[in-house]
Amino acid sequence: MADSHAKMTQATPQEVIISIVAGLLAPLLAIFLVIQLVLSIQDRHQPDTTSEAALKATAERIKPVAQLAALDANAPKVEKSGQEVFDAVCTSCHTPGALGAPKFQNKGDWGPRISQGYDTLVKHATEGIRMMPPRGGAADLSDVEVARAVAYMADAAGAKFTAPEPEAAAPAATAPEAAAAAAPSAGSKP
Ligand code: HEC
Repeated sequence: MADSHAKMTQATPQEVIISIVAGLLAPLLAIFLVIQLVLSIQDRHQPDTTSEAALKATAERIKPVAQLAALDANAPKVEKSGQEVFDAVCTSCHTPGALGAPKFQNKGDWGPRISQGYDTLVKHATEGIRMMPPRGGAADLSDVEVARAVAYMADAAGAKFTAPEPEAAAPAATAPEAAAAAAPSAGSKP
């Protein structure tokens, strides 16, 4: 009994080889077929980049993004008004008078400062002075925006400064400054 059972379960060398090959072949075949399937699907999905219709369709698809990028690249920086800059940046210190900042609309605080002249105030606001940080701590403010905020604050306390205009006046105002800045360095050379 035990003998015949052993015989039945005993495999010949051929049987062993066949079962090994078959056992390997089946999964290999399956993997091969799956790869073929994936490749054929990918093939069908190759984008058509040559025909005009396809190019148009692509342009149409990316239009929202492309337009947004174009807008960003071309849009000129919109300079904020003095009040906008004040409301966004300067008010945090200049309304409560924090750190000894001259208070907004307080003539007593601003009088001596106004008498220094507009250009000096703008310079101090741009470069910072004592506890007053450069540009009020908002480094992205342009020179014009800082100058406007200074005029806005000083005028609110009785001064009669005119804030620089955006396009035409701004370069004209900076040109003499640049010349003045260049002159001393040129003169200091022996
Ligand atoms: C972090 C607080 C703070 C912020 C924000 C701030 N300031 Fe000031 N500011 C001060 C302080 C403090 C002084 C007083 C400095 C001193 O004279 O010791 C001052 C003084 C000034 C003066 C007078 C300078 C002088 O020469 O007397 C001007 C002008 C001025 N600030 C403009 C601005 C403008 C414009 C902004 C916004 C863009 C701004 N500040 C934002 C704290 C601030």
